Amino acid sequence: MAAPIKVVVTGAAGQIAYSLLYQIASGAVFGPEQPVYLHLLDIAPMMGVLEGVVMELADCALPLLTGVLPTANPEEAFKDVAAAFLVGAMPRREGMERKDLLSANVRIFKEQGQALDKVARKDVKVLVVGNPANTNALICSKYAPSIPKENFTAMTRLDQNRAQSQLAAKIGVPVQDVKNVIIWGNHSSTQFPDASNALVKINGAEKPVPAAINDDEYLKTTFVSTVQKRGAAVIAARKMSSALSAAKAASDHMRDWFLGTGDRWVSMGVVSDGSYGTPRDIVFSFPVTVSNGKWKIVEGLTISDFARQMLDNTGKELAEEKQDALDVCKD
Ligand code: NAI
Repeated sequence: MAAPIKVVVTGAAGQIAYSLLYQIASGAVFGPEQPVYLHLLDIAPMMGVLEGVVMELADCALPLLTGVLPTANPEEAFKDVAAAFLVGAMPRREGMERKDLLSANVRIFKEQGQALDKVARKDVKVLVVGNPANTNALICSKYAPSIPKENFTAMTRLDQNRAQSQLAAKIGVPVQDVKNVIIWGNHSSTQFPDASNALVKINGAEKPVPAAINDDEYLKTTFVSTVQKRGAAVIAARKMSSALSAAKAASDHMRDWFLGTGDRWVSMGVVSDGSYGTPRDIVFSFPVTVSNGKWKIVEGLTISDFARQMLDNTGKELAEEKQDALDVCKD
């Protein structure tokens, strides 16, 4: 059995964490041979609730869980961690403007970046889930200059999973028979779910998804807007935001980053190097493959005029968010 790794989850008393912690502690993320020591960060008023979560983790009697540290102190929480799930963020309250939310959350990620920089392992893999996830990841990285930029990612895997599931249902195949759907850009309503390179297995043979569906209009309109608005549809039905599926997506993202993807593409928000004409130095979701713990953007894809417009639009939003976030960090 390997030595335990320290893994931090922030927002540990919240609803995503409630589903996520079991997945991490049961071996679904780092593999069945990798013990974990969980660090749980939340804010001071939530320590009582967090104590209940700690009790439940103990009551799960999980062989891979070697210990749990609940805390409200970021420097204690991030000490020596190899993986960080940054889930905790302020939720949007009624009457709150997007900019108010951005400014509250960017401050949290500035502080957490500084704490990671000080005390985390230099090879820590950071996944930002808390919204606005892409821009929070960028700010976190900016304030953790001693950790490589490639180690900060934002979650668009939930959008990818939603897209894959929509396509599988439309074609009438099991979800695992659809692959290489891409989410480009921001985890927001400007994201571009793109099925143009996706493949589907039908009767044992791989076929392009656009040929299998044979309805270009659907792929450009209904498919795109269903995925973009899926989070809002879940809130409307559940009166709370996606949590079970968000936790599953966070597990998928971190597992693929640690254990690799083979030739399967997955979408991750990563610091842009300008690939596909996107603005540099924003956290943009690209299709990537992962091997040996390193992600690499899939190269050489053809970008149609329609896709160009969609990429430009979401890139523009991210560049604006970045500017707003940098303004907040100045004061
Ligand atoms: P929640 O409100 O149930 O839990 C959030 C937790 O974070 C709370 O316990 C809160 O006390 C804690 N928190 C607040 N500030 C903190 C800080 N400075 N340090 C540590 N913890 C702090 O929210 P939920 O449903 O778990 O969602 C968490 C975040 O994930 C939200 O920002 C939500 O918008 C985002 N999200 C992102 C998705 C994505 O696909 N990227 C999907 C779904 C949600």
